[in-house]
Amino acid sequence: MKTKTLNLAVVGATGLVGQEMLRVLTERNFPLNRVLPLATARSKGGHVSCHGTQLTVEETELAAFKGIDIALFAGGDKSSQLLAKDLAKQGVLVIDNSSTFRMEPEVPLVIPEVNPDALKKHKGIIANPNCSTIQMVLAMKPIYDQVGIEHLIVSTYQSVSGTGKDAVEALKEETRQALSGAPVTPKIYPQQIAFNCLPQAWSLDFETFYTEEELKMVRETKKILSDNELKVSVTAVRVPVYRGHGESVYLLTRKKLMRNEALNLWENFPGIKLMEDPENRKYPTQLDAEGNDWVYVGHVREDLDHSHGLFFWVVSDNLRKGAATNAVQIAEKMIELNLL
Ligand SMILES: NC(=O)c1ccc[n+]([C@@H]2O[C@H](COP(=O)([O-])OP(=O)(O)OC[C@H]3O[C@@H](n4cnc5c(N)ncnc54)[C@H](OP(=O)(O)O)[C@@H]3O)[C@@H](O)[C@H]2O)c1
Repeated sequence: MKTKTLNLAVVGATGLVGQEMLRVLTERNFPLNRVLPLATARSKGGHVSCHGTQLTVEETELAAFKGIDIALFAGGDKSSQLLAKDLAKQGVLVIDNSSTFRMEPEVPLVIPEVNPDALKKHKGIIANPNCSTIQMVLAMKPIYDQVGIEHLIVSTYQSVSGTGKDAVEALKEETRQALSGAPVTPKIYPQQIAFNCLPQAWSLDFETFYTEEELKMVRETKKILSDNELKVSVTAVRVPVYRGHGESVYLLTRKKLMRNEALNLWENFPGIKLMEDPENRKYPTQLDAEGNDWVYVGHVREDLDHSHGLFFWVVSDNLRKGAATNAVQIAEKMIELNLL
């Protein structure tokens, strides 16, 4: 049977996530008829490439989407707020990477390995979860399904690429300044990120004193798992790493789970790669995750003081599985489920 080829727009095609989307579409041989790269007026007329073809960037406006079947949005909240609903009304399937629609009840929030059935209820917009949520929920899912989880406690170690291309440049510049002994001028975060870790690198909610990143992880996890009873406690920290988020996860499970049992559960779960070889000091780091789609799990330990506690370390590339790859996988799943 011949696969239908699709016309696809990438909003934010000149950004970190958009560039990665073009790469992932090429690598996965997504059934494309045409790719339309869109960005702001600043980038109009510039070039990007997909499937070995050079493409000219156009400005993001409603008229540009004529004939488009799927729009992958990675142009920030403003572009999604402005265009996604109108496009959905016109029959374009929007897969959105911004946080604009994630918590809207009628918008599915999907990790294809975790809750693909949620796609069946879509009304034209599907939301990609936050990068730090995706890797955490994927890693805990086999334990959640088999043993049950009462409380999830996580601290993140998130790279600057999570804030976009300007933050990567800012880390390079601050590092150069610091190494040369010059005064460091923070441009993106409220404080210096070079040689530093920032627990408030996001906007702060003044009712709870959590950052928006922490609140996203709490709320999105419950929505993806359809489980408001699950306790989720988050501390999010920005660290001076270019790419890939690390997370220290602690689970209080409903039944005792031995280390070896947990390793077995992860062994064959889709999307997860165990990197657990204590004798040879092998465990995953951000550099292992860079440029690939795995959610790595390692450094697994039973809590010495609580019979139902389990610690592990999770790493994934925030631009790949945390954003671009998950979005393309959603589109692939829509095709597989005949929802397009
Ligand atoms: N970075 C991550 O790890 C990550 C993970 C999950 C989700 N996301 C989300 O993905 C989106 C993109 O993030 P990013 O890291 O790729 O940012 P980025 O590197 O700063 O790139 C932003 C992209 O959006 C374009 N853009 C900005 N404003 C626009 C507008 N009003 N209309 C159309 N295009 C616009 C930019 O175009 P110009 O080049 O012309 O300025 C650029 O292509 C954000 O919503 C972000 O929250 C990011």
